[in-house]
Amino acid sequence: MEREGGGEDDIVCLDGSFFINDDYQLTKFTFGSQVLELFCLHSASTDFDLTGQLVWPGAMLLNDYLSKNAEILRGCSVIELGSGVGVTGILCSRFCHEVVLTDHNEEVLKILNKNIELHTSSENRNCTGLVAKKLEWGSSTQIKQILDEHSGGFDLVLGADIYILINTSILKFSTELFYIYIYMCTLCV
Ligand SMILES: C[S@@+](CC[C@H](N)C(=O)[O-])C[C@H]1O[C@@H](n2cnc3c(N)ncnc32)[C@H](O)[C@@H]1O
Repeated sequence: MEREGGGEDDIVCLDGSFFINDDYQLTKFTFGSQVLELFCLHSASTDFDLTGQLVWPGAMLLNDYLSKNAEILRGCSVIELGSGVGVTGILCSRFCHEVVLTDHNEEVLKILNKNIELHTSSENRNCTGLVAKKLEWGSSTQIKQILDEHSGGFDLVLGADIYILINTSILKFSTELFYIYIYMCTLCV
């Protein structure tokens, strides 16, 4: 925070970080037999674009479904859209051979990477690739970059508590597209 001038009309300049709450708490989640811990906030930020700092009800539902139907994930490659803190992608990494978590928000990507680090260092698993990538929905440049690194595409495209406009570029992700989409319009951005 900087203060300019010396009179009654002082102008106080706040940089962006003043508005960002990064007081993340290590939080335990249980989905069926799966228990995982990750850093997240417990209440929403005032900034609509920082919705990814907490775990949303759609992710709780999706993770519950996936933990009970883990056979659909086994050995698959998965890309998740709007991953937030990563609770869905990280659960998937216990069963999949490759998981790419994506989000467009730089602040969210920071906590997502921290949670990935927490899990890749604390657990030994079959998943060879658990990574975070920046992906703004509809950005053909970013989609191309991801596909350049994953030329085989993805078996599954997951997203919880997001809404998207489906267009042909998203369908390029997967030849055998199994798309689980939980639409909770009233709750999302
Ligand atoms: C409601 S949160 C859901 C987060 C997580 N999937 C969950 O259910 O806990 C929506 C997420 O989508 C991301 N998002 C919103 N608009 C986006 C866009 N245009 N491109 C990529 N990600 C976006 C946000 O940053 C946020 O992480």
